[in-house]
Amino acid sequence: MGLTLEQVVPWGRSLEEYIEMFDLIPTDRPRHTLDCAGGPASFNAEMTSSGHSVISCDPIYQFSVADIEQRIQDTWAILKDKVTAHQNDYIWNRFASPEALGATRLESMRKFLQDFPEGLKAGRYAAHELPVLPFQESQFDLALCSHFLLTYSDHLSEQFHLDSVQELCRVAAEVRIFPLLKVSGEPSPYLPAVIAQMQRLGYKAEVKPVPYEFQKGANQMLKICR
Ligand SMILES: C[S@@+](CC[C@H](N)C(=O)[O-])C[C@H]1O[C@@H](n2cnc3c(N)ncnc32)[C@H](O)[C@@H]1O
Repeated sequence: MGLTLEQVVPWGRSLEEYIEMFDLIPTDRPRHTLDCAGGPASFNAEMTSSGHSVISCDPIYQFSVADIEQRIQDTWAILKDKVTAHQNDYIWNRFASPEALGATRLESMRKFLQDFPEGLKAGRYAAHELPVLPFQESQFDLALCSHFLLTYSDHLSEQFHLDSVQELCRVAAEVRIFPLLKVSGEPSPYLPAVIAQMQRLGYKAEVKPVPYEFQKGANQMLKICR
């Protein structure tokens, strides 16, 4: 893909948010999990510190801690201001204000940065990118993809989505994708084609409600399993 750091807008979410976005009940959590497009989320750091097995992949993991940290410093206030300008597109019960949101995201990204060097050495962070992942078939019990597939439907093609979802289903027994809306808040136009393809291939693919809603209307995930 030839990713440059300037193309990445780091905005990492916490374990608490992942639990609600993917409706992870406690028995889902001890499984061997892939966080695909994990970015600067603290999911891996927080899960690892409570004894769970997680690998995160994302092309930004090719960059150094210092470079990612600098990119976070350069962009987080801009992101917070963007959310402030579009406040009506969000539900403000989880976060009291754009300032509180910015502080929470910064804290998640700080946890990620602290964990990243050790996790990189341990192979818990890997610079792999969709649509092709170098993992074995069914290596993971669960693959999660937050705020990448479907979210960026205006930038990534339908074919990219079809290939990527099939790849995630190759490496994991179950795949969950959240949200189903684009950045603009409109439904991703690729969802019906993704569901149809996976059903044709013999998978169970269903839209499920989740207890998380920050972007208005983004309260469902796509769950795919054999
Ligand atoms: C908005 S962030 C989401 C981060 C995290 N999942 C979260 O919800 O907090 C999207 C991430 O997708 C990553 N990304 C971009 N292209 C990718 C690809 N082809 N495969 C996997 N991840 C990719 C970006 O580097 C970025 O970190």
